[in-house]
Amino acid sequence: MSRSVLVTGGNRGIGLAVARAFAARGDAVAVTHRGSGVPDGLLAIRCDVTDPAQVDRAFTEAEEAHGPVEIVVANAGITDDRLALRTRDGEFHRVLDTNLAGAFRTARRAAQSMLVNRRGRMIFVSSVAGLRGSPGQTSYAASKAGLVGLARSLARELAPCGVTANVVAPGLVETDMTGELSERRREEILREVPLRRTAAPGEIAAAVVWLASEEAGYVTGAVVPVDGGLGMGH
Ligand SMILES: NC(=O)c1ccc[n+]([C@@H]2O[C@H](COP(=O)([O-])OP(=O)(O)OC[C@H]3O[C@@H](n4cnc5c(N)ncnc54)[C@H](OP(=O)(O)O)[C@@H]3O)[C@@H](O)[C@H]2O)c1
Repeated sequence: MSRSVLVTGGNRGIGLAVARAFAARGDAVAVTHRGSGVPDGLLAIRCDVTDPAQVDRAFTEAEEAHGPVEIVVANAGITDDRLALRTRDGEFHRVLDTNLAGAFRTARRAAQSMLVNRRGRMIFVSSVAGLRGSPGQTSYAASKAGLVGLARSLARELAPCGVTANVVAPGLVETDMTGELSERRREEILREVPLRRTAAPGEIAAAVVWLASEEAGYVTGAVVPVDGGLGMGH
């Protein structure tokens, strides 16, 4: 059965892989972008998650095209790597506003119709950095750790209404985001990854699709690591 899915930041990287994985199984998929457009087969919706009005409008557009959103993937995210002592308030807030508050706005809007229909799946894309910490990534790690508290609170709040909320915590994935890492930093991280390789975006998408499946109906408040073993124990 085709479901109505919305993925934030679905124009590239992990979000695009997630959107394609849902589309491949026959779902009606809306993806947000900030002006780049999206590949064919996906409904492109312009939205910056730092603006609550744009988030609201994005859901309205998705609902008009595909019906109430049954699966939402809060994926949009940024990094702004610098040492804590060199991080200005505005820089810290920008990362939190996008990664954490953006996911909150997305989930809050998604909850409206999920509560009425008494079903829904929320999936938050966090990071191993949020669980084990990462030097030079205080804002990013704080935002990603915050997603765990956000998802687990939503999981408790919305469980009586048939809505699950889970987190996927990727390790190092081959996207534009990690393309910015220096070769030295990339090698440092890979030395700590038991599987000794990066992930393909599709490997993260597979976990997201599973969390949205009927088979995962009894899973809520979970943090699913897809990190080659990097975060083990965290
Ligand atoms: N790559 C990794 O190794 C890795 C590891 C762990 C977790 N993650 C997480 O996975 C998610 C996707 O990352 P990625 O690696 O695919 O990164 P990416 O290729 O840089 O893509 C980031 C996506 O987020 C969107 N975005 C950024 N700010 C936004 C905003 N204010 N409003 C709406 N959309 C916004 C981007 O849109 P534009 O194209 O308009 O910029 C883009 O679609 C992020 O949350 C990231 O933290 C990534």
